[in-house]
Amino acid sequence: MTIIRVSQISEYVDQEVTIQGWVYNRTHKGKLVFLLVRDGSGFVQCVAFKGDLDEELFEQIAHIPQESSIRVIGSIRADGRAPGMPGGYELGIKHLEIIQAAGEDYPMALKEHGVDFALEHRHLWMRMPSQWAILRVRATVTRAIREWLDNNGFVQMDTPILTPAACEGTTTLFETPYFDEGMAYLAQSGQLYNEANIFAFGRVYCFGPTFRAEKSKTRRHLTEFWMVEPEAAFTDLDGLMEIEEQFITHIVQCVLRDCPNELKTLERDTTRLEQVCGPFPRISYDEAADLLKQMRDETEDPEQKELLAFEWGMDFGAPHETALTNRFDKPVFVYGYPTQVKAFYMEPWPGRPEVCKSVDLLAPEGYGEICGGSERISDPDLLLERLHQHNLPEEAFAWYLDLRRYGSVPHSGFGMGVERCVSWLCGIDHIRETIPFPRTIKRVYP
Ligand code: 4AD
Ligand code: MG
Repeated sequence: MTIIRVSQISEYVDQEVTIQGWVYNRTHKGKLVFLLVRDGSGFVQCVAFKGDLDEELFEQIAHIPQESSIRVIGSIRADGRAPGMPGGYELGIKHLEIIQAAGEDYPMALKEHGVDFALEHRHLWMRMPSQWAILRVRATVTRAIREWLDNNGFVQMDTPILTPAACEGTTTLFETPYFDEGMAYLAQSGQLYNEANIFAFGRVYCFGPTFRAEKSKTRRHLTEFWMVEPEAAFTDLDGLMEIEEQFITHIVQCVLRDCPNELKTLERDTTRLEQVCGPFPRISYDEAADLLKQMRDETEDPEQKELLAFEWGMDFGAPHETALTNRFDKPVFVYGYPTQVKAFYMEPWPGRPEVCKSVDLLAPEGYGEICGGSERISDPDLLLERLHQHNLPEEAFAWYLDLRRYGSVPHSGFGMGVERCVSWLCGIDHIRETIPFPRTIKRVYP
């Protein structure tokens, strides 16, 4: 008997097949029992008709608990009304074997659950269609990321997770005692190591887990998240924006092409995503600050006025980014942030030392920053001065300074948080649903 996966169902119309999966839902209608069965690749409606089956089996099917694991044999019919994912097909049950009858006390039964309850049961929650869809979009995003970089001359380099020093500021470091060497820190970014790697490979990327002891409890922050970080030699800020544009366009197109069922499950309106292709609008921080001022002046809503309060020199908060991106249909680059709000390694703007050659990419529909990047300081003396200004230990950065002594070149890179990108593409509110087991300030279980 041919064992198939639900995703292949359209190839087996009018044939008898076996499907192995779990009972997601069960409903009755007279002499019919409908099981919605999921097998990881999709959901299919399986129909038991009393007249076709022996009585004992029919009764078993009629009482099978949700989440029981089963093997079901039957023939596939095309039926436009049949629910499921992909939908439009159903299996007429000829035989069914229960591998395990699930406990009747399944905690994630089909009713509304609060978010805390769902998070506490993440190991079961991920079986639900919405969570299944989001995590499959995530897998498509990570595949698209590697595909574009691998096809565009970027060599994958694995950077260390245990590191001797901070990359993105000392306030969000996770510490761990490291034998006789004192403290080590979980990597906030692989960037500094990538800067070494480009001098051997030209264009590189790292892609792995990243750790930030973020005290902020927001919809956009996790303490453990996955970041892809491309870095390129002989590339300035404009060159960097071109890379980001092509990279993001590729990811969005892959998801639209490969995840139509997932996006449908999530009821994602894809109109705006379909418009995403380069070039993306580019505005300076100064222009963005003016726009915010204008929006603040125009709004009648006192609460909104307060949320948009802003002075030159500040970093943008979520409300500022949301307001800005609502003005654009596509992702928008904001470049040239004040030096004081950015990391120590960013190249100053020529003739304007208070501004740096940094760029954030803000996603539309209110999603805000998904990529952060910059051109890096290439002069050894300036870099040393910056380390001192930021009170960073010179010894820990000796190797990093070497890179500016032996064949320094203009170079740039960026980091994209996978979870931020997936939240945007799925159109969901909170980043915690975009990773199988989220880690936040309040949660390391399960
Ligand atoms: O802007 P960030 O802090 O930049 C860097 O770490 C650079 N070293 C990257 C580079 O140039 N190689 O972080 C980059 C991206 C953000 O735009 C965001 O998408 C994501 O990483 N990110 C987070 N995602 C989830 N939770 C957090 N706490 C995040 N912090 C940053
Ligand atoms: Mg950033």
